[in-house]
Amino acid sequence: MNTKLVKPCAASFEEAAQLINKGEVVAFPTETVYGLGADATNGEAVKKIFLAKGRPGDNPLIVHIASVDDIKNVISGEMPEWAKKLAEAYWPGPLTMIFEKGENIPSCVTAGLDSVAVRIPNHEDAKRLIEEAKKPIAAPSANLSGRPSPTTAKHVFDDMNGSIPMIIDGGESDVGVESTVLDVRSLPVKVLRPGGVTPKMIADVVGEVEVAGSVMRPLKEGETVLSPGMKYKHYAPEGALVIVKGAPRRVADAICSLYDSTEGKKCILALEGNLALYRGKNVFSLGKDSSEMAHRLFDALRRMDELGVNAIFSEAVDAEGIGLAVMNRLGRAAAFHIVDAGE
Ligand code: TXA
Ligand code: MG
Repeated sequence: MNTKLVKPCAASFEEAAQLINKGEVVAFPTETVYGLGADATNGEAVKKIFLAKGRPGDNPLIVHIASVDDIKNVISGEMPEWAKKLAEAYWPGPLTMIFEKGENIPSCVTAGLDSVAVRIPNHEDAKRLIEEAKKPIAAPSANLSGRPSPTTAKHVFDDMNGSIPMIIDGGESDVGVESTVLDVRSLPVKVLRPGGVTPKMIADVVGEVEVAGSVMRPLKEGETVLSPGMKYKHYAPEGALVIVKGAPRRVADAICSLYDSTEGKKCILALEGNLALYRGKNVFSLGKDSSEMAHRLFDALRRMDELGVNAIFSEAVDAEGIGLAVMNRLGRAAAFHIVDAGE
């Protein structure tokens, strides 16, 4: 199959909407990461997503809609009052909420679960695609399963060339990490995956929020998974990744000694303000704070593979605000190999 890379324009949205309605898969930009979309009401189309990604069939997809009114076609019954408040505060945006699944959604979308994950993305191109297709769009991140999520059309092309007909190139994703996944079926609401909408932002609206314990550690043997995606190895670059946390000076000392004692092609990932601590070494900037780090992280991990790096040493950031999402992704990419250099 030939994969067309198109800029957003009237003709490309028309063609993309036709492809979706014919049961094909189209990659499109969102503010978090690029999505791999198909008609969420068409089981055969949705199966093509799993095939293109090499995604296990027991990992459910997020259904994307363009306006809150459209949620009635996707969930069963009414949105709980607290979910309405969250929708008002953070939709469109990087928040995915889990509801009881409606009948229009085939079970392959939700991997057989009786719940469904729903999001309204805050991106003009995503909105336009959903509106022109006149369908809810099921979409996981548009990477091959296990690879870092794509934040540019080129990342998508690198993973999907030859296996999907079209990629809409809407430039770099703004947030850079995937949406917050929040179970809102009962109180307290529960964060299953941290993202751009932080636990504090959620608590500000509904008072109380729980964060799943598995967010900052690997799953224990036999542990029940609330969000199936959490159990898979994710975001992993080919090189071995080690995270070092603690006071900046100590972190830098620990990273430098790890770096010096490692053979082969190696690279350090550090915050802009600390670059001078790694003079003379191969170092890559993750930006000035945790939100720039969110924006750059997946691109940095992909670059490590392109450069053929076999050992990566990364600074940690505080797991506060969007830093929680960054540390969750970085932690999983490192299989939670985190060294404490001390305060
Ligand atoms: O920002 C995003 O969320 C991006 C863009 C494209 O919207 N999408 C994305 O999808 O990251 P994906 O498939 O890569 O991640 C969806 C996560 C997975 O961890 C999955 O297990 C979880 O959401 N999920 C989906 N439906 C669920 C459900 N019914 N119950 C629990 N977890 C669910
Ligand atoms: Mg994904």
